Amino acid sequence: MSAEAPTIPLITPYKLGNFNLSHRVVLAPLTRQRSYGNVPQPRAILYYSQRTSKGGLLISEVTCVSDTAQGITDTPGIWTKEQVEEWKPIVDAVHAKEVLALMLHTTPRRLRTDEIPLIVNDFRLAARNSIEAGFVGVEIHGAHGFLIDQFMKDEVNDRTGNYDYSEAGDSNRKPLGLYLAESLNKYGIAYCHMVEPRMKTVAEKVECPHNLLPMRKAFKNTFLVARGYDRKDGNKAIVENHADLVVYGRIFLANPDLPRRFELNAPLNKYNRDTFYISDPVIITLTIHFLKPLLKHHRKGPSESFSVF
Ligand SMILES: Cc1cc2nc3c(=O)[nH]c(=O)nc-3n(C[C@H](O)[C@H](O)[C@H](O)COP(=O)(O)O)c2cc1C
Repeated sequence: MSAEAPTIPLITPYKLGNFNLSHRVVLAPLTRQRSYGNVPQPRAILYYSQRTSKGGLLISEVTCVSDTAQGITDTPGIWTKEQVEEWKPIVDAVHAKEVLALMLHTTPRRLRTDEIPLIVNDFRLAARNSIEAGFVGVEIHGAHGFLIDQFMKDEVNDRTGNYDYSEAGDSNRKPLGLYLAESLNKYGIAYCHMVEPRMKTVAEKVECPHNLLPMRKAFKNTFLVARGYDRKDGNKAIVENHADLVVYGRIFLANPDLPRRFELNAPLNKYNRDTFYISDPVIITLTIHFLKPLLKHHRKGPSESFSVF
């Protein structure tokens, strides 16, 4: 990214399919619940463009493929013309382009066999709409108890009441994960994005157990890892070849210029959990002097207030 700082493994180029990334610090999919009525809002332009960097990869917040797909209030959708039109300026504002996360979260009941092809078609249409909106690809959400996860796991909550959050567990998780990673090789997909199953917190330090390593080895294409990574263990994951790209969530929220901060080994703003999901965009004060080249409109002091969507 620049000549002045020594190269660190996270800030080295990587070729992801047709895309030449200039670093390996990826924005995690982060639901913010601010797309009122499932329509992306213009303020998301600021949110995503604040987190853009040259040759960087951003994964959008989870996006619903249909009106039967919603599990969380005010998540954006991509099944109507209006939603596609509202996504366009957001994607357009992200110079480096981004990948879209899709999810489907049905009502908590067993699907009838005849409903399944319709849902497959919802994914297909949403993927086409994503391309129309300008996204460079789609990430299909296969975890967190959403639909695909429900098909995979043997401990699924299929109660029939009015409860709208699904749960899914499995009695034999490691072989299942390995089987999935191996099976994905058949489909020629661009990458596999996995979240570390657990992170041990010892005092302030986060230990990363690398439980994903067998899956990393089994999957033959680009491998993304997430959860609890900081600069140090992100670098380590790259050096030790445990991952090709490292996905950052909470600290990317509080540090929109995260790749640049990693590059300079600059101090990080602390994240504030209370602001993660509240419906209104929050005005918080962050030190943004590293952001100057990115935020053209903020040129005053070393520390300024700005809207973090
Ligand atoms: C506010 C917030 C919203 C999230 N929303 C999603 C989501 O929509 N889809 C998803 O797959 N993961 C979601 N996650 C999980 C993140 O993508 C990521 O895996 C997690 O934050 C761990 O990474 P971190 O330790 O760097 O924060 C969310 C996490 C947070 C904190």
